[in-house]
Amino acid sequence: MVKKIPGPRGLEILSTIFRFQRDPLTTLADLTNRYGDIVTYRYGPFSIVLLNHPEAVQRMLQDNHPNYNKKHSPFYKMMRHFLGDGLVTSDGDFWKRQRRLAQPAFSRKRLEALAPLMVQCTQDMLEDWRKLPQGTVLNAADEMMKLTLRIVGLALFSLDVSAETRDIAHCLEVLQGQMTQRFQSLVPLPPVLPTKRDRLFRESRRRLDEIAMKIVAERRAQSNRPQDLLTSLLEARDPETGESMSDRQLCDELITFLLAGHETTANALAWTFYLLSLNPDQRRRLEAESKAAPTVEDLPQMPLSERIVLESMRLYPPVWVYGRMSYAPDEFMGYKIGKNQLVTIAPYVLHRNPAVWPNPEGFDPDRFLLERPKGAYVPFAHGPRLCIGNHFAMMEARLLLVTIASQVRLNLQAGTRVGLEALVTLRPRGGLPMTLEWR
Ligand code: HEM
Repeated sequence: MVKKIPGPRGLEILSTIFRFQRDPLTTLADLTNRYGDIVTYRYGPFSIVLLNHPEAVQRMLQDNHPNYNKKHSPFYKMMRHFLGDGLVTSDGDFWKRQRRLAQPAFSRKRLEALAPLMVQCTQDMLEDWRKLPQGTVLNAADEMMKLTLRIVGLALFSLDVSAETRDIAHCLEVLQGQMTQRFQSLVPLPPVLPTKRDRLFRESRRRLDEIAMKIVAERRAQSNRPQDLLTSLLEARDPETGESMSDRQLCDELITFLLAGHETTANALAWTFYLLSLNPDQRRRLEAESKAAPTVEDLPQMPLSERIVLESMRLYPPVWVYGRMSYAPDEFMGYKIGKNQLVTIAPYVLHRNPAVWPNPEGFDPDRFLLERPKGAYVPFAHGPRLCIGNHFAMMEARLLLVTIASQVRLNLQAGTRVGLEALVTLRPRGGLPMTLEWR
């Protein structure tokens, strides 16, 4: 028998909307506690289905993925104002082509070759930290942003963006903050009005474009090009038409990779240092396997670093929610959905499902020694739209973590209460004030 999806009715629809605007994470968690693992709720003009069961997640992302798209989702449409038509936001044949072009830059061999660069950038950062006066309180979240932005620039585009970091970070901040506000407003308007807010949005986007266009122009003019992602995209030809990518497309991909490739990993690391500071026993175990100059060959001997990063992303998944639109009706575990239905997954809630994760709020890296059902753990999504940078990110996070842990302890400043800020990514609200304890 096909069942109707439960969810708030009557006045509760309104109160859910207001609560969601203030605190989306707790609101979604409460909805699943109250109504079950498949729940529907309204948000402004949209009816949304939230899947919180591994079997349902597996169906949407993998087993029946052709039925789900980003093209018609109002959230990805909005995101296109922000990121343009890059790999994260595009869909259909265009997405397939771009993914094929980008994939070789993420082969195992290419990734492993990037390990020394990742470690070197971390050592540079540690050297800077050593010059700080004793007792300095660092914003560890910011530090991780700077570090991962530098790494992704060098790794994918052979470009040290350290000089432009402030500028890029500021523009991304404006765009991301405004994207979130627009997602959360009941009638999400694109940034096209002559208001101060919309002008600021357009200026930030224009500045990012300028930076990206300059990078593309310089690379085009270069005769001896480095073999990186930018060159692969620039030199790629469509096998049927022989056409190459326009400067506009190249810029959209550049901005997409700069953002998707640093913000997420930086948040994963910030949350990891936060959790380690609260769990000194786990930190000591990590220190025991850490090395000041790790290589990629060392990683198999550092298995705890992997479990720690996985457990940190279980509790604080950097991409805390994502979704798709259905082309045709479908059924999840006996619950029917219609066509053009928005369906979402909130890893923040899913990763706390007590039926899969005993003691869900506890930080226990060793739980990753056990098997888990398919679709239960999806910080990088799953199926054909799995994050292209997932191996890059895991290798980077582990190398950075062990390099740092071998030399210094990051301690949360006494008396700090860390809140959650659910933007497009999940951040520690107001940053992460930490002090350094050299080992
Ligand atoms: C801890 C770090 C990271 C996390 C948690 C993460 C998470 C995700 C998630 C959940 C998606 C799917 C989003 C959706 O369906 O809308 C995604 C897609 C993507 N990610 Fe990541 N990501 C991380 C690191 C990276 C890195 C390092 C790069 C690049 C160097 C990257 C590039 C991308 C791209 C280009 C896509 C779109 C892929 C496609 O649809 O073909 N990500 N990521």
